Amino acid sequence: MIRVIGYDDRFSDGVVEVCNKCVSVDEPWTEKPWNLDDFRRVWLEWPTFNVENFGLALLNDRVVGYVFAIDDGGLWIGLCVDPDLDKYLALRTANELLSWCKYRIRDQGYSGRILIPLGWEYGYRHRLINEVLGHRIIHHVKTWLMKFQGEPTKSTPKVGEYKVCNDWRGREEDLVLIHNEAFRNEPFFQPVTVEMIERWFTSTRYGKPEVTLLYSQDGDPVGFVVYSIFKAFDGAYTGLVDTLAVRPKYQSKGLGKRLLLESIREMQDRTSRIILYVDEHNSRAIKLYGKVGFRAYRRVIRAVVT
Ligand SMILES: CC(C)(COP(=O)(O)OP(=O)(O)OC[C@H]1O[C@@H](n2cnc3c(N)ncnc32)[C@H](O)[C@@H]1OP(=O)(O)O)[C@@H](O)C(=O)NCCC(=O)NCCS
Repeated sequence: MIRVIGYDDRFSDGVVEVCNKCVSVDEPWTEKPWNLDDFRRVWLEWPTFNVENFGLALLNDRVVGYVFAIDDGGLWIGLCVDPDLDKYLALRTANELLSWCKYRIRDQGYSGRILIPLGWEYGYRHRLINEVLGHRIIHHVKTWLMKFQGEPTKSTPKVGEYKVCNDWRGREEDLVLIHNEAFRNEPFFQPVTVEMIERWFTSTRYGKPEVTLLYSQDGDPVGFVVYSIFKAFDGAYTGLVDTLAVRPKYQSKGLGKRLLLESIREMQDRTSRIILYVDEHNSRAIKLYGKVGFRAYRRVIRAVVT
C-alpha cells in the first residue's frame, strides 16, 4: 500500500513525472515539461528548501506523490499527488503525505500556523486538498496573478526630490524597516529580519532578484521594489514584480507607481511577459497595478490550516 519515505538523496524520474502531471494541470507558463535538471535546480538551489522535509509517497514502489515544507518566514507545505490515481487512493496519498510532513515539522519544534497552496482555483490540487483538509482550513488567502498589458514605459515620472539606489548590499536594515512598516497591517503579517532579506535577495528560484530603493533627499528610506527575470518552463523570459513597498508616511504621493514603472522599464526589453501576484484583499495595490496596465487573469488560493 502507500508508504511515505524521506528524501533519499536523489530525485528520480518518478518524482519528476508526478510533478509534471500536477504542474501542467495547475501552473501557468508550463507548456514545456520539467526534466530532472530543472527539478534539481529549482529545489536544491532554493535557499530555504530543507531536504529533510521532503517526503515521497510510494505505491508498490512507484512514486505517486510528494510533499515538502518550506520556511520562507512563514511555514508552508507543498503537496503533489498523481492526478491519475483514483479518488480514494489520491485522498489517502494526500492524507499520508500531509500527516508525515506535519509530524516532521512539529518534531522540529514548529507550532505556528501553516499555509498550504491550493493551486489554481478550480484546479486539481485545489479540489484534492480541499477534500483532504476540509474542516481544518481556517482561512483562505486568495491571490490574483496579473499580467502586464500596458504600453511600454519609456521613462519614469519624476516625483519630487527622491534618490534612487540600485544596490541593496549594506542597506538591509533599511529594507527591513520599509518592509515591516509597509506590510504591518497585512493579515498574518510576520516581520522580516536582516537574515531573511539576505536569503531572499540571494535566492535564484525565480532568477536573480534586482532591487530598487528610494530615499528622501536627507537619506530617509522611503520604499523599494524587488523584481527578477527568469526563464519559465515554456522557454519564455518572464519578468516578475516580486514585492512593492512604500512606508506609510510616504504613501499616496505617486512613489509606489514610480517604483513599479521603474521595474517595468528595466524588464520590458528583456522579457516576453511581466507578471505579479497580489492578494485579493489588497484593493489599493490592485488599483495601482490596474492603472499601470496589469490585468488579473488567474487566481491562486492558499489555505491557512490549524
Ligand atoms: C501599494 C503601495 C506600494 C502603493 O504605494 P503608494 O506610493 O501609496 O502609491 P502611489 O501614491 O504611487 O499611488 C498609485 C495609485 O495607487 C492608488 N492609491 C494610492 N493611494 C491610495 C489610497 N490611499 N487609497 C486608494 N488608492 C490609492 C491610486 O490608484 C493611485 O493612483 P493615482 O495617484 O493616479 O490616483 C503602498 O500602499 C504599500 O506599500 N502598501 C503596503 C505593501 C503592499 O501591499 N504592497 C503591494 C503588494 S506586494
